[in-house]
Amino acid sequence: MKVIQKIEELRAELSACRKDGKTVGLVPTMGALHAGHASLVKRAVAENDVVVVSDFVNPTQFNDKNDLQKYPRTLDADCKLLEAEGVSFVFAPSVEEVYPEPDTRQFDNAPLDTVMEGKYRPGHFNGVCQIVSKLFLIVEPNRAYFGEKDFQQLAIIREMVRKYPFDLEIVGCPIVREADGLALSSRNARLSEEQRKQAVQISKTLFASVEISRHHTLAETKSFVAETIAASEGLELEYFEIVDGNTLQNVTSWDDSDYIVGCITVYCGEVRLIDNIKYKE
Ligand code: PAF
Repeated sequence: MKVIQKIEELRAELSACRKDGKTVGLVPTMGALHAGHASLVKRAVAENDVVVVSDFVNPTQFNDKNDLQKYPRTLDADCKLLEAEGVSFVFAPSVEEVYPEPDTRQFDNAPLDTVMEGKYRPGHFNGVCQIVSKLFLIVEPNRAYFGEKDFQQLAIIREMVRKYPFDLEIVGCPIVREADGLALSSRNARLSEEQRKQAVQISKTLFASVEISRHHTLAETKSFVAETIAASEGLELEYFEIVDGNTLQNVTSWDDSDYIVGCITVYCGEVRLIDNIKYKE
């Protein structure tokens, strides 16, 4: 496994691989890797000859400077995990290498990027599209792998690929959870022992809401989630929306779509956690 900081060096390595007829898989990450990332990497390694994992905390997608500063950076531990998984290249560039000048590109993915995370984190998805599109241009992968935990991000990246267009397959991979249900996230590392216990109420509530949804209206199910989280110690609901899984727009009845997903964001102390659950697929 090679750890590469420079774009030109990575390009040269990959162009040699492509000349040999090898397929290339890309797993974009911001590091602080956990079993959720490992599941993406395993799938990429199984489906491609060569796998590149980018390990780069992308400043343009943080609308909160404090969040950017506190984002965990664990390159050495990440490399150990990636080597064990059979990754060929880790791309760990500096901010200057990726953004030698400010990236002023504006990606319009409306209405997918104006709701939920897009509403609460203005500019976030534009930053995600800036880095992901750069990675696609640098790596030119046959396939790129993203987790369904960031459900809205995955939908927006699919839309970007369709619209701009990029010639690759986007592979969405299921959420990986702790044994008690908490969705894996690099941010979980910032939870205190007490907060970690409180955070499990997020997934518990989502799972319970699937049962509720079988016998209740969509509005009642939505209220159940909002009220349960509001009553849970240490948690503060930012939003819970029940949306069409393709358009990400609100639905008001279970008959509105064949693909219905509930997306939630909750603060546990200062730590912002997201999760989602499928009601219909
Ligand atoms: O999901 C993430 O970790 C990031 O948003 C991504 C896709 C690596 C872009 O920085």
